[in-house]
Order: sequence, then structure tokens, then C-alpha cells
Amino acid sequence: MRTRPLKVALLGCGVVGSEVARIMTTHADDLAARIGAPVELAGVAVRRPSKVREGIDPALITTDATALVKRGDIDVVVEVIGGIEPARTLITTAFEHGASVVSANKALLAKDGTTLYDAAALHGRDLYFEAAVAGAIPLIRPLRESLAGDTVNRVLGIVNGTTNFILDRMDTAGAGYSEALDEATALGYAEADPTADVEGFDAAAKAAILAGIAFHTRVRLDEVHREGITEVTSADLASAQRMGCTVKLLAICERAADGKSVTARVHPAMIPLSHPLASVREAYNAVFVEAEAAGQLMFYGPGAGGAPTASAVLGDLVAVCRNKLAGATGPGESAYTGLPVSSMGEVVTRYHINLDVADKPGVLAQVATVFAEHGVSIDTVRQKGKDGEASLVVVTHCAPDAALSGTVEALRKLDTVRGVASIMRVEGE
Ligand code: NDP
Ligand code: HSE
Repeated sequence: MRTRPLKVALLGCGVVGSEVARIMTTHADDLAARIGAPVELAGVAVRRPSKVREGIDPALITTDATALVKRGDIDVVVEVIGGIEPARTLITTAFEHGASVVSANKALLAKDGTTLYDAAALHGRDLYFEAAVAGAIPLIRPLRESLAGDTVNRVLGIVNGTTNFILDRMDTAGAGYSEALDEATALGYAEADPTADVEGFDAAAKAAILAGIAFHTRVRLDEVHREGITEVTSADLASAQRMGCTVKLLAICERAADGKSVTARVHPAMIPLSHPLASVREAYNAVFVEAEAAGQLMFYGPGAGGAPTASAVLGDLVAVCRNKLAGATGPGESAYTGLPVSSMGEVVTRYHINLDVADKPGVLAQVATVFAEHGVSIDTVRQKGKDGEASLVVVTHCAPDAALSGTVEALRKLDTVRGVASIMRVEGE
């Protein structure tokens, strides 16, 4: 074993960073044995230097992250600050000054992964980011390496722990939305700005990363259709329960049947209770990968939280350190297919629509006509009348999303339709 240590700079020492530092210290001997050289924490950049950080030598703490990554003797920079800047500049500076990088920053990778990949390639460094998608779950490496010889057609799953935690609490414990969000934040699952979680930005960033790797193409964040969970009500969850379903925020990346384009989307969806994703509770994540030769694979585990995420960071750290010692680099960006990303309108899906309508003769026929005019076939209809008004629940067969949204738009214009109480896509059947 080499005795000279590999030097690691830790950028950020919050929920994830503090756990990375703890494991590096408590498992130093095991890490050294697995890498073939000791790893030494050479500096820790934070915003608030006076904060007490258990187990970390105060002499390592600095607020000058730029000076740390420019030192020239740093082998690996672990970026767990989050956000776009200064993280992006720090990462590219680290590459310029000789370090490889491990990051958990999905927001940055989805927004500007190309800049990071290019800078890593230019300087012959590694860029690893297992922790950026689905917390502790090994998913990036299986997609980038284990499935590199296969053709992935679909990646579908729950990739945001916070929203899964909130929906689960609302569904199974009758908790309110705000109360459940506060709990997820206190447990360290939510982003610094939890809007990123609840509005679907975090899951969309992960979908862009997954689609890019799975389909060997570049998928921009603004090409991912995004809806969050802020409009999911307890009435939606109750309605889902009546249908033998639950509601989950799903990320779905698909290759078109002709193989010539891809789609990526994030939205809440009803899924049957019999579907494996329905039993994914709390902040757990689960992702199905469908590949031509491998068939269907499922990845499941803790999707957020300090220690689980640190596990993924440490796995990358070991891999990057081994590469350093071998004088090699791991896989870089693979975007050779250049497949275009189709819009949400072209996605084929099903809708569950809850309408408040006038309870009088001919209304059902009128509603059915609108569906027919848009080429959308109805699977089931359930009506419950009360005092001259009725609640009409329509579940459609599969149709292009554009036809389904056109149907809803036309329904809103009918005099007999008092309102569209909720619309939710149905997946997993
Ligand atoms: P935290 O907010 O808990 O920690 C952020 C850390 O970065 C803090 O230590 C903070 O310093 C430091 N920091 C912020 N700005 C600067 C700056 N300009 N210069 C130096 N240090 C700075 O975030 P998390 O640990 O939760 O998340 C970190 C990253 O990991 C994010 O990209 C996040 O998306 C990702 N991630 C998080 C997961 C989770 O479950 N929390 C799971 C998977 C990925 P100070 O301590 O002084 O405030
Ligand atoms: N805020 C993220 C989540 C952290 O809740 O999934 C893990 O990426």
C-alpha cells in the first residue's frame, strides 16, 4: 500500500458533508485498504466557520473554498455545497488544478453537466456523481457501466425522497402537507429551498441526468416535463384509494417505440396498490430500468438523508482514488446518439379526471362526446349525484397527452361542467 495519502478537499459540511467527513474518519483504515493508499481530509470549506462541527479538526475549516481547490496538492474535491454557483466554478477550478471531483449536486449537473464533463475531459480528470440521483441507491454506476452493453428503453421511478415522504404521510397518517414538509426538512431530506422538491425541480434534474445516461444523449432540464405535488390534495389521495391506487411523484424517461426520440417527465400519478412502487414508503426511492437484454431491473433504497447519501459519495471517492492511483480515469459523458427529446404532448398516457357536473339528462352523453371528438377512449366512468350536482370520475384508456389535455380544455368550456376538480395521470397498469 502507498503510504503517502491522497488528499481530499470537502466543499460543504452540512447534512451530507458532515456524514462524509465522519465516515472518512471512522472508516479510514478500511478505506485505505480498499483504495491502496490512505485518504486524508485536507480541508473543509463552509460558509459559517464558527459553527461547531463534531469530529472535524477546526484547523481544517476554511471559508475560502477557491483557495482550497487551487492548492495544487488536492487529489479529489468532494462538492456537497449544492446550487449552481459557486459550485460550478469551484468544480471547474478543481479540474484545472489537478483534482478529480465527486459531487452530489443534481441541480448543477442537470443545468450545466456539459460544462463539467467537458472540463473534466479537457484536464483528464474524473467526474463522479452517484449521490446526485436517488441517494444511497447505486443507479448511475449500473447505468453507466453495468448496462453499457445493453439498450435501455425506460427508466421509471420515485427519485425524490421529500415528496415521497410527504405523500406517504398524507396518505397513510392523514398528515397535512405543511406538517409533512416540515418533518422532511427536519430530517435533512429536503433541499435548501424545498420548493425544488415539492415543485418537482429536483426530480426533473434527476430525470434529465438519468435520461442522458440511459439513452446516451443530452437531455436539458427544460426538456423535462415537470409538475410537482403542491396541487395534490387529500381528496386526490382518497379518490386514488377508492380506485385501489395511491399517488406518487414519478420520473419517467422513455425511448420512443421507433427508437428515434426520447421523453422525460416528472409528475404525480396514480399507481395501483399492487404495483411495487406503491409500497415505497417515507423517503425511500425506487427505480425500474427496462433494458432490451437484461429485462426489468429494480433499484430500491434510501433516497435522501445524510448517511445514505454519504455512502454513495464515499463509493465514488473510493473509485476516483483508485483511478488516480492507476493513472486512469473512469467513464466520461456518452452522448453519441444525439436523440431529440419529444414534448409531453407526444407521451402516451392515461388520465383520471374528476368533474363536477350538473346532474341532469344528457350530461354524460355530452361529456362522452368531448372525449370521442378528441380521439380519447373512456375506460371507466363513475357518477355520484347529490342535490342536482354530480361528481363524475372518468378514467381513460391510453392516448397522447396532447389529446387528453385538449379534452380537459374542451370539458371546461361545457356549461354543464361546473369544474374540473382534479386531473391525474394513471401509470403502472
Ligand atoms: P446543506 O445545506 O445541509 O449543506 C450545505 C453545506 O455547504 C453547508 O456546510 C454550508 O456551510 C456549505 N456552503 C454553502 N454555501 C457555501 C459556500 N459558498 N462556500 C462554502 N461552503 C458553502 O446541504 P446538503 O448537505 O443537504 O446537500 C448538499 C448537496 O447534496 C446538494 O447538492 C444536495 O442537492 C445534495 N444532496 C442532498 C441530499 C440530502 O438528503 N440532503 C441527498 C442527495 C444529494 P455552512 O455549514 O457553514 O452553512
Ligand atoms: N431533496 C432530495 C430528495 C435529496 O428529497 O430526494 C436527495 O436527492
